[in-house]
Amino acid sequence: MDKIRIRGGKSLVGSIPIGGAKNAALPLMAASLLTEGTLRLANIPHLADITTLANLLGTLGVEIALDGHAEGGHQGRVLALTARNISNTTAEYDLVRKMRASILVLGPLVAREGKAKVSLPGGCAIGARPVDLHLKGLEALGAKIELREGYVEALAPGGLKGARFVFPFVSVGATENLMMAATLAKGTTVLSNAAREPEIGDLARCLIAMGAKIEGIDTDTLTIHGGTKLSGTTHSILPDRIELGTFAMAAAATGGDVELIGGRTELIASAATALTQAGVTIEDTPRGVRVRRTNAPLVGVDVMTEPFPGFPTDLQAQMMALLTTAEGASMITETIFENRFMHVPELRRMGANINLHGGSAMVRGVPKLTGAPVMATDLRASVSLVIAGLVAQGETIVNRVYHLDRGYERLEAKLAACGADIERVKEAA
Ligand code: EPZ
Repeated sequence: MDKIRIRGGKSLVGSIPIGGAKNAALPLMAASLLTEGTLRLANIPHLADITTLANLLGTLGVEIALDGHAEGGHQGRVLALTARNISNTTAEYDLVRKMRASILVLGPLVAREGKAKVSLPGGCAIGARPVDLHLKGLEALGAKIELREGYVEALAPGGLKGARFVFPFVSVGATENLMMAATLAKGTTVLSNAAREPEIGDLARCLIAMGAKIEGIDTDTLTIHGGTKLSGTTHSILPDRIELGTFAMAAAATGGDVELIGGRTELIASAATALTQAGVTIEDTPRGVRVRRTNAPLVGVDVMTEPFPGFPTDLQAQMMALLTTAEGASMITETIFENRFMHVPELRRMGANINLHGGSAMVRGVPKLTGAPVMATDLRASVSLVIAGLVAQGETIVNRVYHLDRGYERLEAKLAACGADIERVKEAA
């Protein structure tokens, strides 16, 4: 397994291109199942999760072509997906277990084919990650759901029917699954207490370009007038706000000055507010977002994760890494996932002063961190250890970097280009 070696103490200075959003690309790829036409997705990031979902869609009969020569800049690549005919409606455990978001094929499959068999994704490091809302919502749309031998079997031989569904609590994936399914359901569907993450708006805009009729985009009530046949389209994926926030925190932690090309402050508004309160200067530029530390000290701030537009849970670990060397104390409360403090023991081994109290972490700033060998456990915890390594005195080795490769494209190259002393150490297989 590859490792990443970092020698800390260098400030990040320069520019970093922000890629397409992983968490927009995944549901958008699943949306290809809703039409026989070709869905072309531009600005696709080159990430392990994207490859995993592409492989899964291939087993369902989706033809996939990758054009690595997309026009201009860091526009990434163009993925063309054509579900002309679906030869298989079963998403196998072996692929689903690698990437939980595979559950997003369930709604489109049962909506289009009237049946789907998808392995339950199982939990992951940050929590049990149940999919009960996905299933309850599809039942509301008329699907018959059975759980058998670790698989969800969904049946709707006569097609889905529009319905009203109120989410008891906000779920990004369930909102995406149901919005996609509702585009092919007969009649109108109203989803209340829907998630409002920008990735959902991006998906809705793509579905509308495919011919869907959706109202209430970016609000907590989505109205989908289903039943029209959808066609292909070309859609460019929005910038990855979590990558944007991650690099902003890395730049701030190292006392650097970095321009994040393609980003927009509005995508990370709540995180930008917390960073500003902590003493970071963050502003929009014609090309993106500039993040720097002026001579103001880094000071502790309190952070609570919430559904969008609140502080994103996917930036909690990175913010904690930043605050370990701030002056004063920070209370960080995680309200979305039940086990998203796996980075805490590793940060402590680097000298951080963090105490956990249930869903909250009390971080007391220390003058410095010291490098150490640390273990990555999940995608965002891993990158928080990289941020800590960039700041720490001495050498940090981050093990199990396959977690990082799921969500960050060429992370070490982007950081090295801004002056970080960082390299990937290939382990003999
Ligand atoms: C999406 O996961 C993201 N993944 C996650 O990013 C992100 O952390 C999360 O939304 C919250 O913003 C993708 O978009 C691929 P949820 P998702 O359904 O859809 C519980 C990353 O690092 N829940 O909003 O799975 C759930 O366990 C990943 O990029 C149920 O109980 O998140 C969690 O506690 C990590 N039943 C909470 O709700 C359900 O049916 C929010 O989950 C569904 C969810």
